[in-house]
Amino acid sequence: MTSALHFLVVANVTRTNLNSWRAQRHGDPLPGSLDFLVQEAQALESAAIDGVFLTDTLFFGDRGTWPYRVTDDFDPFTLAAALAMATNRIGLVVTGSTTFEAPYTLARQVLSLDHVSAGRAGWNIVTTWAAEAADNFRADGLPEHDERYRQAQEAVDVIRALWDSLEDDAVVADHARGVFTDPAKIHVADHHGTYYDVRGPLGARRSRQGRPVLFQAGSSGAGVAFAARNAEVVFTMQGDASAGAAFRDRVRSEAHAAGRTSAPLVTPQLSFVLGSTDEEAERTDEYIGGLFVPELQIAKLQEVDIDLEGLHPDAPMPALPESTQKNQSALQRYRQIAQTPGMTVGAFLARTASGFGTRVVGTPERLADLIEEWHSVGAADGFVLAPNLPGQAAVFAQEVLPILRERGLFRHDYEGETLREHFGLEYPEHPAAGR
Ligand SMILES: Cc1cc2nc3c(=O)[nH]c(=O)nc-3n(C[C@H](O)[C@H](O)[C@H](O)COP(=O)(O)O)c2cc1C
Repeated sequence: MTSALHFLVVANVTRTNLNSWRAQRHGDPLPGSLDFLVQEAQALESAAIDGVFLTDTLFFGDRGTWPYRVTDDFDPFTLAAALAMATNRIGLVVTGSTTFEAPYTLARQVLSLDHVSAGRAGWNIVTTWAAEAADNFRADGLPEHDERYRQAQEAVDVIRALWDSLEDDAVVADHARGVFTDPAKIHVADHHGTYYDVRGPLGARRSRQGRPVLFQAGSSGAGVAFAARNAEVVFTMQGDASAGAAFRDRVRSEAHAAGRTSAPLVTPQLSFVLGSTDEEAERTDEYIGGLFVPELQIAKLQEVDIDLEGLHPDAPMPALPESTQKNQSALQRYRQIAQTPGMTVGAFLARTASGFGTRVVGTPERLADLIEEWHSVGAADGFVLAPNLPGQAAVFAQEVLPILRERGLFRHDYEGETLREHFGLEYPEHPAAGR
């Protein structure tokens, strides 16, 4: 029996709330530092959380945000390898961009992490939405939105083929003959497509979980189609449970139409501020509000073409752009938040500074109730937790998980060894198996 619910946690709190490093307490590691991530991963592992998630955008934010950001923009694969050595069971989900990284490199990095961690790696497939990221890789800018997904599809096809370079029993390690691998069981991708020419093979066997677990977050038409075809776990941002249920239905029916036998799991993003009473949680939220720097948020919103520069905080929200070539899903969520009755520029900046997914401020019971409700109406197979303050992920583990366990919704301990087993996903047989 696999756990009814699954949780990933954005390990680096300074990614979900850029101001959160200001809450560092004397003697605690700087939020976002390697020491912080190790502490976080170990605490979450002791609560049997499915995995930690390392986000990555491949650029250091809009220029206006630079003074306010923690300089912790490290390569997620390197961090995850360090975390693999500091933990034993928790999954490690890294972000890698198909728009800017070569499939051979990505395939090799993710599979290496899967081996280093003994089958705990997941890959968050991103197409990257920021023009500033493109400026770090090429002179001709960001490819158009749907084109990025076409390229991603070809990249994923190549990467899967590279991961299957060796059949499960390819290694014979025959000391007498000096033969390590049976050449009949080594496959070359020999791929020649629109975007890539990749021969292969990859000189590494499949991992303990067969292949790394594939995660993806697309909410546009092209994004959902891609997720339905490829993802094993889908990230999303949804405003409420009924929108979440409609989204999950859509992903599942598109996956079914694409010929998949098992539908991907859907895990919406959820941020929260917990307190032992609602009042205490609200006080903590006010404290978070006090850490907020308006100039930083104005600059950050430029990243999705929202320009609030020079507007008075008490002014009503202006109309926002209807679409962007950048992150369409983020813009749509911002548009929903902007349409809240009475929303002013200042309130909008403060609200969006701590994420734009669903957000709960209240007691552990209140958060557990929301989680149960989303699960029971078919909106979520689990959540990507995006804590807003250092220490809040640990409070979630200590206070919310016991309630969910009591309700039979979350495991007491890990029931498997690999990330795939934590999520209850099938072992992917090698395409040559049974032939
Ligand atoms: C929970 C979650 C995590 C994400 N993490 C990243 C990330 O680390 N790097 C990135 O470039 N995009 C990230 N994204 C953005 C998605 O990859 C994607 O660009 C976004 O959902 C827009 O997709 P769409 O244009 O198909 O709507 C994330 C989205 C969600 C919901």
